Amino acid sequence: MILGIETSCDDTSVALVDMTGAILFHQIHSQESLHGTYGGVVPEVASRAHVEVLPSLVRSAFLDTGLSPSHLQGIAVTRGPGLLGSLLTGISFAKGIGSAFRLPLIGVDHVQAHLRACVDSMESLQGKTIGLVISGGHTHLFRIENWPTMELVSQTVDDAAGEAFDKGAKLLGLPYPGGPSIQKEAEKNTLPLLPLTKKRIRTENPLDFSFSGLKTAFSLLVRKTELNERTRPLLAASLQHAIVEHVLDRIEQTVIQESPSHLLVGGGVSANALLRKKLQVFSEQQGMTLHLSPLSLARDNALMIARHGRELFLSGMYTPYPYTSFSPYTR
Ligand code: KG4
Ligand code: ZN
Repeated sequence: MILGIETSCDDTSVALVDMTGAILFHQIHSQESLHGTYGGVVPEVASRAHVEVLPSLVRSAFLDTGLSPSHLQGIAVTRGPGLLGSLLTGISFAKGIGSAFRLPLIGVDHVQAHLRACVDSMESLQGKTIGLVISGGHTHLFRIENWPTMELVSQTVDDAAGEAFDKGAKLLGLPYPGGPSIQKEAEKNTLPLLPLTKKRIRTENPLDFSFSGLKTAFSLLVRKTELNERTRPLLAASLQHAIVEHVLDRIEQTVIQESPSHLLVGGGVSANALLRKKLQVFSEQQGMTLHLSPLSLARDNALMIARHGRELFLSGMYTPYPYTSFSPYTR
């Protein structure tokens, strides 16, 4: 059995999986209401909340399943990237239980683990696979040929896709988190979309993403528009369209270059309904199998950490007790 712990940002989550990857326990405790009043995640508030919630979540995992830490083969914990204080709470807790039972610690990369949420079993993927992770802090494209390892194909050179949603929502006075707010507001729009002209950025890698030009164009547009019940949905829909088009453009180019058989898409932004619809149409046209993260697992969760951790463990990629070289990373 593998215990999974996720505390990289503002969700505290714990999962237990058996050695086939089957789920025995999974809970996510969201801090959304704590950060909502500030319009974004406050790192100090986040790490304190993890400290308060994590012990009781782990206790529930064992009480609900009737199992104990002595049944564990290892502990998978998010090692990074994330907020330093938040990562440290999960890692320290994992080291605590792990030390008591002399268990291997499995450091899991949070961004890569988002791809593990897209499929029940990685063994089902035959042929070349491309993975896209779009979240509040990351926009990364990976080539997966030898799971559980992968190669980075491209990433954002500035903001993440989720940041573009979150900052756009803030400018429109919509509640945090911005992605779902923008989507909801955009659904009310009936007017033709406004173009968001952005300066073309020159990236060394043509598959890299960039959202900062879009963000600037959007803030200029908001500044010269009177916000009301008609313009707010119009602006939200225009921003959503521009973000989705940029993501699709990079996916299209990647598919031309790589000719993958499978496309995995995970991370918080993969919950976006417009993006999901467009990806489905595009994948069908290409004859490529699309594996979208189920909505319940698009957000941060420990199931993806436990499952990815299980596969890293089976490949021998773990740190045995006493964990001298185990530390978090933020980027
Ligand atoms: O993966 P996640 O829960 O946390 C990070 O690792 O960042 O992603 C959170 C991000 C936020 O930026 C949030 O606004 C965005 O995912 N998001 C969405 C939607 N739901 C969440 N963005 C667009 N449309 C949505 N429906
Ligand atoms: Zn995430």
